[in-house]
Amino acid sequence: MIELNALSKTYAKSERKAVDTLSLTVPDGIIFGFLGPNGAGKTTTIKMACGALEPDQGMVKIDGISMHDSPMEAKSQIGFVNDNPEMFNRLKAREYIDFVADIYRVPSDERKARIESLAEAFEIADVLSNPIGSLSRGMKQKVSIISSLVHDPHDWILDEPMVGLDPEASFHVKEIMRERTRAEKCVFFSTHVMEVAEKICDRLAIISKGRILFTGTLDDLRSLRNGKSSDDSLEQLFLELVDSDDSQK
Ligand SMILES: Nc1ncnc2c1ncn2[C@@H]1O[C@H](COP(=O)(O)OP(=O)(O)O)[C@@H](O)[C@H]1O
Ligand SMILES: [Mg+2]
Repeated sequence: MIELNALSKTYAKSERKAVDTLSLTVPDGIIFGFLGPNGAGKTTTIKMACGALEPDQGMVKIDGISMHDSPMEAKSQIGFVNDNPEMFNRLKAREYIDFVADIYRVPSDERKARIESLAEAFEIADVLSNPIGSLSRGMKQKVSIISSLVHDPHDWILDEPMVGLDPEASFHVKEIMRERTRAEKCVFFSTHVMEVAEKICDRLAIISKGRILFTGTLDDLRSLRNGKSSDDSLEQLFLELVDSDDSQK
């Protein structure tokens, strides 16, 4: 479970809070989507949730462990897929994955089995011996996904994971998300595409300008549409929510 309590963050030389007293609980056992337009504050929130960025204010708890008080313990629960799959380009893909597995102290037989099955599912087994710098963006993304799962973390956090993936790989990501929630693990991912959220999420939060505008299920979101034209798609509703927030500022 991920608990974000009144998180705020303002970047240096910025007038505006990138994230503004944001509170959100991501329970275990459901796929939770974090949806919002570009610049809404998704990446900033996710980096604070992972302990990669220190909040100015507020508190992060991972499975009840305070990120501030016990960062190593909290981080050991997390598998994180960055929005930018740039890694150590000179390392071979397998070396990078092994490096991550070493950090998390994953026993060698366990990691071998996990890496092999994931590499097969994502169809990159044949390029694991190639330097990361020689791989396409999509392949780097797959390496990043595999390395985020190598220690079988309780909390899987992904920032825009579907960007740059082919449909088959997106399908696998979705399958893995589903498998993990069935095992009562935690899955939290961001996207700026309503359609992606609609296809995958059990529950979602919509963020705009650093603030949460909506939290609930897709059905809750659909019910907001009552009284409006039934032609309105969720995409339309999402845009309206974000626009009405804009017009209040
Ligand atoms: N490193 C940074 N320095 C200054 N401003 C930043 C930095 N990263 C993000 N921002 C700003 O913070 C806001 C939120 O950005 P971000 O969290 O990346 O949004 P999202 O992931 O939803 O697109 C934006 O206004 C963005 O320009
Ligand atoms: Mg982002």
